[in-house]
Amino acid sequence: MSTEQHHISLTVNDRVTDAEVEPRLSLADFLRRHLSLVGTHLGCEQGACGACTILVDGESVRSCLMLAVQADGSEVETVEGLASNGELHPIQEAFRQKQGLQCGFCTPGMLMRSLELIRDNPTITHEEAREGLASNLCRCTGYQYIVEAVVDAASEMR
Ligand code: FES
Ligand code: FES
Repeated sequence: MSTEQHHISLTVNDRVTDAEVEPRLSLADFLRRHLSLVGTHLGCEQGACGACTILVDGESVRSCLMLAVQADGSEVETVEGLASNGELHPIQEAFRQKQGLQCGFCTPGMLMRSLELIRDNPTITHEEAREGLASNLCRCTGYQYIVEAVVDAASEMR
């Protein structure tokens, strides 16, 4: 018996992408398996850790909880879209300079959530960054250097 497939068309990191997908396929699995965009990490797969955070139409979502078919017609941004022409995005550069990562597992989700926070609030404070990143878990860093990186990146991007 063949599984029903749905046609979806979406933009991922500025590239129009068409695909046939099963209705139950998560957006995270679509990115990782169909597009080989494995920078989006999967931790808990139940909405708790934030490792799978990406932006859909500019808003952060947990891609483990969203179906690929729900992203039909959307603009998706993943960590792979941050760097351009071999240059790190200011957020990536700030994380690097501030050592806002250790094992790196949470980092793609942290970067994408940080991008949303900075776009929404270009003059973000340490306190606001800490509160905004409460959605994403990091087991390594203690958050302080991540928060500092977000504030530095915001300053760089203004
Ligand atoms: S993997 Fe999606 S929230 Fe943890
Ligand atoms: S750097 Fe290891 S979980 Fe955040």
